[in-house]
Amino acid sequence: MSGMLEGKVILVTGGSTGIGRATSTILAREGAKVVIADIQDAEGANTVEMARAAGGHAEYHHVDVSDYAAVSALVSGIAARHGRLDGAFNNAGIEGPTAKIFDYSVEEWNRVVRINLTGVFICIKCEIEQMKKQDGGGSIVSTASAAGLIGIPGASAYNAAKHGVIGLTKTAALEYANRNIRFNAVCPGFIETPMLNRVTDQSVKIRDTLIAGVPMKRVAQASEIGDAVAWLLSERSSYVTGVALPVDGGWVAQ
Ligand SMILES: NC(=O)c1ccc[n+]([C@@H]2O[C@H](COP(=O)([O-])OP(=O)(O)OC[C@H]3O[C@@H](n4cnc5c(N)ncnc54)[C@H](O)[C@@H]3O)[C@@H](O)[C@H]2O)c1
Repeated sequence: MSGMLEGKVILVTGGSTGIGRATSTILAREGAKVVIADIQDAEGANTVEMARAAGGHAEYHHVDVSDYAAVSALVSGIAARHGRLDGAFNNAGIEGPTAKIFDYSVEEWNRVVRINLTGVFICIKCEIEQMKKQDGGGSIVSTASAAGLIGIPGASAYNAAKHGVIGLTKTAALEYANRNIRFNAVCPGFIETPMLNRVTDQSVKIRDTLIAGVPMKRVAQASEIGDAVAWLLSERSSYVTGVALPVDGGWVAQ
């Protein structure tokens, strides 16, 4: 039986660990040729092994998503090697510091916004450029967050950047709907990844408090985001565009 992404060429940024790694493995299992871009090279090589073991083609490239020239060269290289780009998962991101706005430095603000929002803009811009040259459109999914839908004290830059990813997704969806290039965002809640561990490692209490606030009373596995992303990247979601999909155990429904 062939997978729902058979033969599709899909770029995954931030694919070395966490949500990007789990998603890359699922996309490969579903038949995609997965091109992983990240800045953690050793972990990227591990993801490539996992994706290949799942039965698909996978390759890794060292690319900082906030570097326009590097992303542009990456996408041109994909077109040269594989002939096209069918989909992308713009997922690379950082959490930034936890501090109230008064104590949040302008430098940290700029760094978080540069990677989490400008990085997604740069990727979308380069992906559109390639997809416009092809027949058949494309599907682009970006990782926002539940923090893109509600405010979270102490996370001003992260919150603003993730709200920005949703706004950017909606505008891109409207600009390219008539070319059949679809744009959607996923909004993860609390997901078992290195990022969540960095945030909660400070104390067991923080983790317990987070879980207590989730209606389903658990964090998610990264593959639970990957399954939603695979669907959004596939033809099975062919009439879905401009959506910000919470995958959060009911957290933002409260
Ligand atoms: N884990 C959660 O609970 C959670 C919740 C909501 C949203 N998210 C979002 O999910 C995405 C993935 O995060 P994760 O939880 O898997 O964390 P993670 O830290 O495991 O993964 C993030 C990946 O992005 C890469 N990256 C960081 N900066 C980069 C850059 N400039 N260029 C290229 N790659 C870069 C990292 O090397 C890493 O591999 C992020 O956008 C994050 O904001 C995570």
